[in-house]
Amino acid sequence: MVSKLPVRRFDALIIGAGGAGMRASLQLAEAGLSVAVLSKVFPTRSHTVAAQGGIGASLGNMSEDHWLWHMYDTIKGSDWLGDQDAIEYMCKMAPQVVYELEHFGMPFDRNPDGTIYQRPFGGHSANFGEKAIQRACAAADRTGHAMLHTLYQRNVRARTQFFVEWMALDLIRDADGEVLGVTALEMETGDVMILEAKVTMFATGGAGRIFAASTNAFINTGDGLGMAARAGVPLQDMEFWQFHPTGVAGAGVLITEGVRGEGGILLNSQGERFMERYAPNLKDLASRDVVSRSMDQEIKEGRGCGPNRDYVLLKLDHLGPEVINKRLPSIREIAIKFANVDPIREPIPVVPTIHYMMGGIPTNVHGQVVLPQGSDPAAVLPGLYAVGECACVSVHGANRLGTNSLLDLLVFGRSAGNHVVGQNLTAQSHKPLPKDAGELSLARLARLDAATSGESVAQVASDLRKSMQSHCGVFRNQQLLAAGVQKVLELEARSQRTAISDRSRIFNTARVEALELDNLVETAKATIFSAEARRESRGAQARSDYPARDDANWLNHTLWYRDGNRLAYKPVNLKPMSVDSFPPKARTY
Ligand code: FUM
Repeated sequence: MVSKLPVRRFDALIIGAGGAGMRASLQLAEAGLSVAVLSKVFPTRSHTVAAQGGIGASLGNMSEDHWLWHMYDTIKGSDWLGDQDAIEYMCKMAPQVVYELEHFGMPFDRNPDGTIYQRPFGGHSANFGEKAIQRACAAADRTGHAMLHTLYQRNVRARTQFFVEWMALDLIRDADGEVLGVTALEMETGDVMILEAKVTMFATGGAGRIFAASTNAFINTGDGLGMAARAGVPLQDMEFWQFHPTGVAGAGVLITEGVRGEGGILLNSQGERFMERYAPNLKDLASRDVVSRSMDQEIKEGRGCGPNRDYVLLKLDHLGPEVINKRLPSIREIAIKFANVDPIREPIPVVPTIHYMMGGIPTNVHGQVVLPQGSDPAAVLPGLYAVGECACVSVHGANRLGTNSLLDLLVFGRSAGNHVVGQNLTAQSHKPLPKDAGELSLARLARLDAATSGESVAQVASDLRKSMQSHCGVFRNQQLLAAGVQKVLELEARSQRTAISDRSRIFNTARVEALELDNLVETAKATIFSAEARRESRGAQARSDYPARDDANWLNHTLWYRDGNRLAYKPVNLKPMSVDSFPPKARTY
């Protein structure tokens, strides 16, 4: 029997209204397609709004720059796990997407000559690593905020249809495997509906809420990853999670790398600028994995600060009130509110904090989801796209450079939008829905509605976060990871025995959190299984038992399949589109 769920039809459906989703929807709506954007929150509250420091692009406004230098820095930052064709595409496109934003009205900071202000950021250099460069196009320390509002306003003008406070639940695929839309929950009413589309695009952002200490918003629960995994799509390179060096100790709130870009420095309890020892060239502006590991090392060796010696200090008072108030106003506010220090006078206590997921749903540069079939590792899954943090193109490899996430959103949101537009969807008709459309979601909801007693969702989610934090942290080893695998499997079983006390349908956030838990569990499983299997250290995967990078055996992307927690591997693409390859070499800063 065909599902009785109500159905609404669109040419294209985008799940997520952050930077990637809204950059893509803009291309579609401006081309006249009927496009619906679904979001758990009001669009301008999507997590892109929290991005602070800038967008990487070789505009050369502060000194000479070149997209090839940006490309080299990105490949080196990725510890050679990034695909060089995709990285070339992104770095070459960067100036164009920034100028487009400028023309959309984005309020960038300006130089005296009117050009966009650019600041230094970790791992960005001139002339292939020679010295630090100013490449991050900034709107004070609120770049994501400025960008998201600019994109939202353009989308309103283009008549994009927003479904606000709607949560996508599961993908709908037909017998041929083609994606025909999603089931979705309207949070206000509790109603479930089928949203049918000729193209479905995931732009669901990150999943940092699988960890206890995270800079991520509470909405970042890996919904796209959970939906993809349940529909049989593998997740790529999920062992690579970025710890941002400067989260406020005890609070997790982000303190932008732009602070160090403007001249801030990290100090240990002896007042030593310890990054000079670990990265003699770029120092505090080495790549994030390097800085986070160095901080962890200082703390482990007893040179942490505070009563428990468990954080280091970020000093910026020497920049002076004028620079702090002009370039870093939100940082001052965050430090006062969350650390009780005014950085004009005192340093900020900081610790490495989970920030970004380098892995995700495998895609090509058009945003099409790649689902390897038999002998074709690049086969695409018809009807499904993924862009932004939930996708893995892969341009970040084993470690993303700061500013390349906002760039990734713009470049691949735009290219996916253009690819969809090129398919002439308005001339096509919708394919018939399968008979079982919606059944998986209805079964998930029915289990929740039937459970009269069981585990608390909040408790299972909290235990999951603690397990991931302690078993999959900055430094990992076999014993920790193997125990972590067992814990996550136990937590998966517990997640199937949860119950919620409030059965109402009207804006029942307990129900939403229970549904989110399913996605957190899939993301955590993908992460811990992939990390346990990779027996080398590369970028953000730092194994104390396998301290060296092993290019002979591990220059491969991991693919985790939900079915049996199976792992497969595919080679990294070391061939750029039009320039010579950057072959792997030792990575020093
Ligand atoms: O430090 C920051 O402002 C974060 C930027 C990023 O993750 O790209």
